[in-house]
Amino acid sequence: MTNYPKTSAMMQRGTEFLGCESAILCGAMSWVSERGLVSAISNAGGFGVIACGAMTPELLDAEIAATKELTDKPFGVNLITMHPQLFELIAVCKKYAVTHVVLAGGIPPKGSVEAIKEFGGKVIVFAPTLALAKKLLRSGGDALVIEGMEAGGHIGPVATSVLAQEFLPALAKDHVVFVAGGIGRGEAIAGYLEMGACGVQLGTRFACATESIAHPDFKKAFFRAKARDAETSVQVDPRLPVIPVRALKNKGTEEFKRKQIEVAGMLDREEVNMGEAQLEIEHFWAGALRRAVIDGDVENGSIMAGQSVGMVTKEEPVAEIITELMEQCEAALSARVAA
Ligand SMILES: Cc1cc2nc3c(=O)[nH]c(=O)nc-3n(C[C@H](O)[C@H](O)[C@H](O)COP(=O)(O)O)c2cc1C
Repeated sequence: MTNYPKTSAMMQRGTEFLGCESAILCGAMSWVSERGLVSAISNAGGFGVIACGAMTPELLDAEIAATKELTDKPFGVNLITMHPQLFELIAVCKKYAVTHVVLAGGIPPKGSVEAIKEFGGKVIVFAPTLALAKKLLRSGGDALVIEGMEAGGHIGPVATSVLAQEFLPALAKDHVVFVAGGIGRGEAIAGYLEMGACGVQLGTRFACATESIAHPDFKKAFFRAKARDAETSVQVDPRLPVIPVRALKNKGTEEFKRKQIEVAGMLDREEVNMGEAQLEIEHFWAGALRRAVIDGDVENGSIMAGQSVGMVTKEEPVAEIITELMEQCEAALSARVAA
């Protein structure tokens, strides 16, 4: 702590909220953010978050139990709001008295925030607009993550730099706000702290840490990639909605464009109805992140990665990444011209 006096002072509200030393969250990454990486992050003074993704309540139960075996530091659990068993998953978090629950992927359904607060859990929310952020913070959200389109995985349309200017002046004085998306170095953290954020969330920088279970070929794809290789999924036909996802371009992303053209043609020829066509598109990527992360299929799988991927050049232990980020942030803040 004392090694980074300026950074620690500016992160203080974040570290108090999270109960850790450095207000650096490792954002939940499906398949990647499991017990190993999550415990490593929390043990290194950051804040790890389990990605529940599509896990069943039984699997989440086992994952939380295993993580608790590996760390006695606080960590969070990220739940996707449209999970059909959301309330059962919240009950599992209650069983283990999980301190922080992140609700991702949409507006939290009625009763979910209350169910978490009822057992004393803190609720972290995402919001794509300032109006929604205010509403969620008024109705029980304890902290907010703003995430720009530079990030890996599912993304919104607006850049982190713009979201930070819109949200931080309006919210940061009275609320705990973390900034995510495109952060690769501590200098950027310094900038967002100065704008009022009390911490940051990174995913891409941690995905290939030594402690990450990602397949060696997934990691190699990250080390080779440059910022421009982390592309947003393209929607080819206005009738066939595509959820924007940022991932490394590969055979699968090219194939996806061809698939959309093919399905649009089938629609034109009335060989399928709209529902069937949209399902074909939706199902294209089913299981694709797992194929890339776990099986190492970097040709056909989905290699979700943010634009900061160009700054990921080698496998490094989590503790080294966090130290480096904190050192860079502290150096940047110290180098500011005194008034
Ligand atoms: C491989 C990968 C998988 C991800 N999966 C999830 C997820 O399951 N749930 C979620 O809320 N965010 C997910 N994210 C987003 C991260 O939690 C984090 O917010 C994001 O990576 C931060 O931006 P950055 O990639 O620029 O560091 C994922 C990101 C990556 C790179």
